[in-house]
Amino acid sequence: MEEKETYSWWKHGVFYHIYPKSFKDSNGDGVGDIPGIIEKLDYLVDLGIDAIWLSPVYKSPMVDFGYDISGYRKIDPLFGSMEDLKELIAQVHSRGMKLVMDLVMNHTSDQHPWFVESRSSIDNPKRDWYIWREPKNGKIPNNWITNFGSAAWTYDKHTKQYYYHSFFKEQPDLNWRNEDMKRSFFEKIQFWLNLGIDGFRLDVINLLIKEKTFRNSPLLSNWFSNGKVLNRNQPRTFKILQEFRALLDTSDNKMSIGEIYVLPPGDTNLVAQFLGKGDDMLHMAFDFSLIFCSWNACKYHEAITKWYGAIPPESWPCFVLSNHDLGRFVKRYSLGIHKYAKAKLLATLLLTLRGTPFIYYGDEIGMENSRISKKDIKDPYGKKFWPFYTGRDKARTPMQWNSDENGGFSNTTPWLPVSESYKSLNVEDQLKDEDSMLNFYRQLIKVRKEYPSLSMGNWHSIIDGVGGVLAYERRYEKEEILIVLNFSYRRKSFSYQKLKSSFVLVSTHRQYNTMIETHEITLQAYEATVLKLFS
Ligand code: NOJ
Repeated sequence: MEEKETYSWWKHGVFYHIYPKSFKDSNGDGVGDIPGIIEKLDYLVDLGIDAIWLSPVYKSPMVDFGYDISGYRKIDPLFGSMEDLKELIAQVHSRGMKLVMDLVMNHTSDQHPWFVESRSSIDNPKRDWYIWREPKNGKIPNNWITNFGSAAWTYDKHTKQYYYHSFFKEQPDLNWRNEDMKRSFFEKIQFWLNLGIDGFRLDVINLLIKEKTFRNSPLLSNWFSNGKVLNRNQPRTFKILQEFRALLDTSDNKMSIGEIYVLPPGDTNLVAQFLGKGDDMLHMAFDFSLIFCSWNACKYHEAITKWYGAIPPESWPCFVLSNHDLGRFVKRYSLGIHKYAKAKLLATLLLTLRGTPFIYYGDEIGMENSRISKKDIKDPYGKKFWPFYTGRDKARTPMQWNSDENGGFSNTTPWLPVSESYKSLNVEDQLKDEDSMLNFYRQLIKVRKEYPSLSMGNWHSIIDGVGGVLAYERRYEKEEILIVLNFSYRRKSFSYQKLKSSFVLVSTHRQYNTMIETHEITLQAYEATVLKLFS
């Protein structure tokens, strides 16, 4: 007997990821801010969103746009004030939604007072709060490299030692083997819990602990992993996550989701380890497999079943198609003239799988990766690696609210150019168009809320992608829903005993509420249909 799910906000709700610099500018400085988010909360309610994940808004020199934090209990003036944040929490809660903050535990900004102290002298009490090493034969201590490929060590002339950083040199890694540091960091977490935050998205959490001896990483045939093997995924991280979970569990109804980006992507068993027994470490972990699937129904099926199979039974899956680092999904498959049809199909998948769906802001209107010209690039990685890698700005352009100047995002020139598409692709116009991407998302979410099978039910595969068709059922108590997705550009016939007398809940090609009268239907190219089975 499978145990019956009971509703839980973080398992069964729909999440919306906001990149705050680009959501809504309220004060005319070209940068999105917290009051701007408050202005748009009713839009999220209308869309059907249950929880918001907010990329960092803490005090930061913005070398990595907020992922370099210099004040964990402060809000960066660019985004507003602590009062604004409190107001955001109150406004989110008053609408029955939850707010999840981004938490960067692996590193701080080099401007953070802890690092300023740590670097001041070798015998400073906070020296060991970061990772300092003597030069080795006059050079860097080992061959470990940053996530973007250069040496992960920076020499500090003043104290004649190197410090370690997984990202920019302005983002020194904390030493999570130091108990004093850990205790102080946990106080920061407690601060946010006390303030009423509902949970945390934990940035690069698998990087927290490094291999103790700091020996050279082996050189591997997978060049991308070279120099990045011993600096992550260490078992001691699990212990810290257990302590973190214990802290979280002292407050009611909190959640955590970890960013666990593994190399090469797709090692679901490794990602799942961070979920522990299912109730003693992270609540959920991002598995990025769907982002790396080619346009192939079998590949999607494989990624989904692999992830379901990998996570502990007590735990809960989640799915994501786009984010601020890996780009937007609409453009991922050189989708050509069918891009919106394909995007609707993937939206249907995301919102009907067993697992928490995360929608990246703008995906619901079909925003694509923008083309950013060299002069407009803001992402330091884009600046550094142009033209081989143009950086992450392409998926961080301002939200397109309407066809006014700057897409209704700001009344001044935005920090990143609004995508040229805003005149034809924006919230205001799409709300008026029944067939728009936005209205399709709204319908999907509405149906998901109306039929508990779609959020809480179990998942049974019916067709595993062979022939381009993916079909599965969701069941909760006596309710049964069938989802059929045709990844193919050809029509496909689909026959299934239970089809007869089912009716359409949402579809790219069929009218709402139409009754299916046979055991067999012809699926149109890229058709996505959700059916309530007769029972
Ligand atoms: C992952 C974040 O998503 C990314 O934007 C950031 O640059 C790195 N972690 C470093 O914090």
